[in-house]
Amino acid sequence: MSSLSERTFCLYTYGCQMNEHDSERIAGMLESLGAIQVESVEDAEIAVFVTCCIREAADVRLMGQVASIKNIPLPSGSDLKKRMICIGGCIGQRDGQKLIDALPHVDVVFGTQNIEHLPLLLEEAIQEGDHRVETLESAATFSTDLPSKRVHPWAAWLPITVGCNNFCTYCIVPYVRGRERSRTLEDVVAEARSLVADGVREITLLGQNVNSYGRDLYGEPRFADVLRGVSATGVERIRFATSHPKDLTDEVIALFGELPNLMPALHLPVQSGSDQILKAMNRRYTADHYRGLVDKVRAVCPDISLSTDIIVGFPGETEEDFQATYDLVKSIGYSQVFTFIYSRREGTPAAKMEDTTPREVIQARFESLVDLVQDSAHEQNQRFAGRTLDVLIEGTSKRDGSMCTGHSPHNVTVHAKLPEGMAIERLQGTIVPVRIDEAKTWYLSGEIIRG
Ligand code: 5AD
Ligand code: SF4
Repeated sequence: MSSLSERTFCLYTYGCQMNEHDSERIAGMLESLGAIQVESVEDAEIAVFVTCCIREAADVRLMGQVASIKNIPLPSGSDLKKRMICIGGCIGQRDGQKLIDALPHVDVVFGTQNIEHLPLLLEEAIQEGDHRVETLESAATFSTDLPSKRVHPWAAWLPITVGCNNFCTYCIVPYVRGRERSRTLEDVVAEARSLVADGVREITLLGQNVNSYGRDLYGEPRFADVLRGVSATGVERIRFATSHPKDLTDEVIALFGELPNLMPALHLPVQSGSDQILKAMNRRYTADHYRGLVDKVRAVCPDISLSTDIIVGFPGETEEDFQATYDLVKSIGYSQVFTFIYSRREGTPAAKMEDTTPREVIQARFESLVDLVQDSAHEQNQRFAGRTLDVLIEGTSKRDGSMCTGHSPHNVTVHAKLPEGMAIERLQGTIVPVRIDEAKTWYLSGEIIRG
């Protein structure tokens, strides 16, 4: 029997969907060894942090959080001498032993390439009473064949690639996630099939850049082949993230008009609307090329919802550059824009670029963009008023237990009154038609239409 049997653990997850998926696998793995997941750190003998280092704020938050649990006593009845603290994910990969030097009460550090070694490292640290640090340069195998504990039984993430070869000059990801590796098409489709058999209704294909899928594989299967293969499993909803505009092909775009289960929502990070900044970012497309992609996508799927990522304040960004970004965001009509202030990451090429724009100027640019994004989201949502949308119900609203909440095909949050006498458990994980009577900036609300 594993020495982790019946031990309690809690998970803290930061960052992207890849990290959330890694956390599901960590939970699945520890539970398969008999450990028990708990919600709060007070009840946990083991605390596992799955970390992100994409921006400085994520680093700072982690340090604060790890320090803050230091003095919380172990749950009563535990035979451990102290709570075991494990740090994995991107900060683990980047900092390794340095983390233990900075935070001596941390017991295990692991990286992005070896999450399957966590149980062993943890057992050794418990038995020996000392630290364990292991980060690997790259994984020997594509380690997705671990048990996974899904947050919702009806929705699953399915990684198709890990790592990134793009080296955008601001980005730390290629250094902490390694070179891009693709899972074979057979593996991906087999997993999709088994998820469907398990009752999953929505699959989100994951990769740092799903569009470059398959370049490292024999026969070079393309992302379009993955979409067709997963679509053929009959899963009700397919989504994917993230897509690099330089690699989005006409073949993939056409599938938005062909595959009934490919949802009409596309996240296509543009980062900037200025060609000069895009060049300095090493994005390898122009704003015009990006606009051309949007036109093509809308030609095959006029109702599609578009979302994007924008970085404000990249080194050397002038007022004119920012204006180009502002104009691009305004003219595209996004449903959602994730806006970030540039954060200098040691070891990336942009960290060496001269950065003279005053903080207040960047902050003002950021705020004006956030206002624009809200107007744009509000405007985009108005087209849904009066329409009936299929909503995958997830649970009751946090604010009001008599309301249920879910997502439309366009990935907009929808609230609807729970029908009289209906238990939420009967609706959770089902797709129901909702007539929309109100369209707000970040959600829609309406009434469930009973058949
Ligand atoms: N500073 C700010 N934002 C960043 N992103 C990536 N690296 C940085 C950085 N150094 C943003 C990009 C990316 C998203 C996931 O995070 O917009 O698309
Ligand atoms: Fe980072 Fe660029 Fe790779 Fe995205 S594509 S993970 S922004 S290097």
